[in-house]
Amino acid sequence: MKILVVGSGGREHAICHKIAQSPRADKIYCAPGNAGIAAVAECVPIGAMEFEKLAAFAKEKEIDLTVIGMDDPLVGGVVDVFEKEGLRVFGPDKKAAILEGSKSFSKDLMKKYGIPTAGYEVFTDADETLKYLETAKYPIVLKADGLALGKGVLICQNHEEAVDAVKTIMQDKKFGSAGDTVVVEEFMTGREVSVLSFVDGKTIKIMASAQDHKRAGDGDTGLNTGGMGTFSPSPFYTEEVDKFCRENIYQKTVDAMRAEGREFKGVIFFGLMLTPEGPKVLEYNARFGDPEAQVVLTRMDNDIVDIFEACVDGELDKIELTFTDKAAVCVMLASDGYPLDYEKGKKISGLEKFDGQTEYFCFHSGTKFDENSAIVTNGGRVLGVTALGDDLKAARKNAYEATKWVEFENKYMRNDIGKAIEEA
Ligand code: AMP
Ligand code: GLY
Repeated sequence: MKILVVGSGGREHAICHKIAQSPRADKIYCAPGNAGIAAVAECVPIGAMEFEKLAAFAKEKEIDLTVIGMDDPLVGGVVDVFEKEGLRVFGPDKKAAILEGSKSFSKDLMKKYGIPTAGYEVFTDADETLKYLETAKYPIVLKADGLALGKGVLICQNHEEAVDAVKTIMQDKKFGSAGDTVVVEEFMTGREVSVLSFVDGKTIKIMASAQDHKRAGDGDTGLNTGGMGTFSPSPFYTEEVDKFCRENIYQKTVDAMRAEGREFKGVIFFGLMLTPEGPKVLEYNARFGDPEAQVVLTRMDNDIVDIFEACVDGELDKIELTFTDKAAVCVMLASDGYPLDYEKGKKISGLEKFDGQTEYFCFHSGTKFDENSAIVTNGGRVLGVTALGDDLKAARKNAYEATKWVEFENKYMRNDIGKAIEEA
């Protein structure tokens, strides 16, 4: 089979790496890809938002299956463009991707179908929002309705901060039109868990749990980022939690989308908060998490091509997902200054140490080849160093050991990825 993956981050590297293990994959392309992905796939210089060009490429090369990794093209309707051309594609169409694309849509869906989530109000007018916030209970959470690179969520400790948040989202339009509508949500406490799943429209199969570390600094301090590291499985995702979520969240979400005429095919990522009252949905994403994919896919035993096809064909009920008992930890190596200002173009050394390894992986997030064909940094998040281990502690030790194998100027990482494991 010829397979095209759309995206350019560590998630897409992990997806390409997993596809490359399939005996069914004869040729892998990635658009636009990065310097790490180039080791397993042929990178094609077409942007993820260039839908017509992507579809034309898929036709020309007779691609058998395209896998969309990123949220922006999914929400923008890339799957619809491919389907209109009769091309096979893995991912939700535009009307289903709204599950991630609009927070007010997903909140209303959960309310309508009785799926546990935080209480909320939706506003489109700044004055009305401000009026509501005068008598609200604090802390409170304000969320831009649309996609905002994971940065559209503002947690406000008091009224003053909430007024600032309204200014940021609705008046200054820091997140553009994503902030035309705002969701004001009750603040929840508890452990966060990420649960990824495959969905074929009707059937849902749950992958291993994971936990992200979203803040830039140790001890969950500093600004929110795209994710500074992950581990899988989460010791907090117990059998009891799993049972509750299977009964109250997962299948209910898939059925709700079908009932709304928005049949979902692809990956649903459930961002869960394990609150004192039980698990609740923080958010849905319509794709693999990044860096959740790096730890979940390295633990998966299945041939991922079989699963992608089963989702497209509505035959996921025939697949049994299995994961190794080994744990995985991913530590993100970033450019110092991320998520604000950082330098790019720094030469990376030591990458060859990962060649031929079976328990240590270096997934590239932001890298490229310079004019001398050397691999250099090309983003805030640069490399996701990932390792397996017999248990979470061992995986954590291995991952941190491997972070020493690679060097680049201004290399920055959190030193406490997976530390919560020790408290479990
Ligand atoms: P989201 O993009 O919705 O996942 O939000 C980003 C992060 O904000 C989450 O991972 C949580 O840490 C935090 N967050 C979002 N909603 C809430 C909430 N209702 N209560 C507490 N924290 C929240
Ligand atoms: N790691 C969080 C996300 O991919 O949204």
